[in-house]
Amino acid sequence: MDAAVEIADLVKTYGARTAISGISLRVEPGEILALLGPNGAGKTTTIEICEGFRTADSGSVRILGLDPIADATALRPRVGVMLQDGVGGYNAAKAGELLGLFASYAAYPQDCAALLDAVGLGDAAEVPVKRLSGGQRQRLSLALALVGRPELVFLDEPTAGMDPHARRSAWELLESMRADGVTIVLTTHYLDEAERLADSVVVMDGGRIAARGTLAELTSAGAEGQVRFKAPPGLALRGLTDALPLGSAAIEESSGRYLVSGVVDPQLLAALTAWCAGQGVFAEGLAVERRSLEDVFLALTAGSAARS
Ligand SMILES: Nc1ncnc2c1ncn2[C@@H]1O[C@H](COP(=O)(O)OP(=O)(O)O)[C@@H](O)[C@H]1O
Ligand SMILES: [Mg+2]
Repeated sequence: MDAAVEIADLVKTYGARTAISGISLRVEPGEILALLGPNGAGKTTTIEICEGFRTADSGSVRILGLDPIADATALRPRVGVMLQDGVGGYNAAKAGELLGLFASYAAYPQDCAALLDAVGLGDAAEVPVKRLSGGQRQRLSLALALVGRPELVFLDEPTAGMDPHARRSAWELLESMRADGVTIVLTTHYLDEAERLADSVVVMDGGRIAARGTLAELTSAGAEGQVRFKAPPGLALRGLTDALPLGSAAIEESSGRYLVSGVVDPQLLAALTAWCAGQGVFAEGLAVERRSLEDVFLALTAGSAARS
């Protein structure tokens, strides 16, 4: 079976600036992939090359097994697109008319009224696009991407500017598409959005892929977890470190407050509590802290933050 998206060794420069320096990526049919990364990481460039709106300098891109530019006509009914800057260019049309226009291009469009309701624009069908708020435009833009029942959708920051209710409706809409087997590639700055929707996550930074994996893999890989507990000050931590699995470390962060870091698994917890029992120490408030996607993201892109 063809990959939904297959990119190999993609490079894109703008004059002297390298926006993408050799990325390879495969998205399986039915997968939801979130592209994360700081501003300027190359997310929009990557997506727009996949959409056939920009050309790469080198490398290859196959979308549903086809070429995004040479096979644009064949791909158009199969691929839904939501651009980062929304619905510009259609300002005079009413929201409902514009959705109807996009539906008319599709062989089996969704019901426009139901889709407008689903994105929370049920009352705005008669409103000209130029009168919609920023968040409402985003919702319309999402509806335009989905109305043709695409097999694959590219969504560039789909919920930017949406209020929390609208974001939740958008998530529900995307989850219902997942249930229908639609492949979704989205970019987002909201890590909770990636956590909720994505089967896998790619973190881009400076035109490269800094990490890729499922959420579970990214948040446990390298497995930096930690355990905190309180106990009397001055425990003999060298003995504790020796008792813990290799690669773990224990420190007294402040008087009577301890931090154990390492691969936090049942063996580590068992060794920790056994050592405390041996010392006659009660470890109070013992808490396991897993890395969140945000921790992983910040660690991976720390260099960019320092540069900007
Ligand atoms: N049309 C363009 N002309 C020149 N530079 C561009 C253009 N589009 C993007 N860039 C540059 O390419 C890099 C990647 O941009 P972009 O793909 O928009 O990143 P992201 O979507 O991750 O914020 C940035 O340094 C940006 O300034
Ligand atoms: Mg962008």
